[in-house]
Amino acid sequence: MKTTIRHIQKKKERREPIVMLTAYDYTSARLAADAGVDMILVGDSLGMVIQGYETTLPVTLEEMIYHTRAVVRGAPETLVIADMPFMTYQISPEQALANAGRLMQESGAQAVKLEGGAHMASTVARLVEVGIPVMAHIGLTPQSVNQLGGWRAQGRTAQEAERLIEDALALEQAGAFAVVLELVPAELAAHISAQLSIPTIGIGAGPGCDGQVQVWHDILGLFDDFQPRHARRYAELGSLIRQAVARYCADVRSHRFPTDEHAPHLSEELSSLYAPRNGRNARTLPQAEAA
Ligand code: KIV
Repeated sequence: MKTTIRHIQKKKERREPIVMLTAYDYTSARLAADAGVDMILVGDSLGMVIQGYETTLPVTLEEMIYHTRAVVRGAPETLVIADMPFMTYQISPEQALANAGRLMQESGAQAVKLEGGAHMASTVARLVEVGIPVMAHIGLTPQSVNQLGGWRAQGRTAQEAERLIEDALALEQAGAFAVVLELVPAELAAHISAQLSIPTIGIGAGPGCDGQVQVWHDILGLFDDFQPRHARRYAELGSLIRQAVARYCADVRSHRFPTDEHAPHLSEELSSLYAPRNGRNARTLPQAEAA
């Protein structure tokens, strides 16, 4: 049975922790779904971990559609949420509506996520009004990294904390079905989670959130450019991959791979025609020599 936003709401009501993980392609989505995540986020973090940019800002709507389509094919039963890229929703609610519509229609995602607090409430309301489920995202909002002055925790002063609480309430009021809290002090995130009837999904926001989200590459040890403090590495796939690829290189260079078992073979009759002679292949010998 396909997971829907109603299942996610029920989990909040039952106080069952919600698990979200990013994925960016068919294979990772399939693995995540097999492992039992509740939701997959096709995050614009793909700009950094897939495309190698320093921020998420260069990611385009077309790229999000491309990756989300692959994820939906890999995890057809999982709730897939696609990030709206920078400047595809900030201009006006109507711009957001047109682009969210494209993202949903062309990728098969069931919901979109967008960054921003109370000032995005009218945009959230517009999308929800036409039936597009919206996940909100406050705290450290990576698309505003230049404005925020770096990847810094948010809500550490009383004034900032109050603003985040107001943001969360405004987004809930506007109809968001969940809100991501990124790099928000644990006590504040727990307080916001208790205030809201919709689930909070934390990343670097402590255990008091209703759910957690992590980036695929961070928990699997695939991304070494930096290691966020909020992530736990459940595997060291980066080292495993390096070792495996080094063995492959060594095997090819030393003629240990491929062997006879790694290719199809001709029938005995035909293979004699092509059998190597004096280190050369019979079929490629000049006519006279072969006769
Ligand atoms: O883009 C992303 O992966 C995100 C998560 C970190 C919440 O927004």
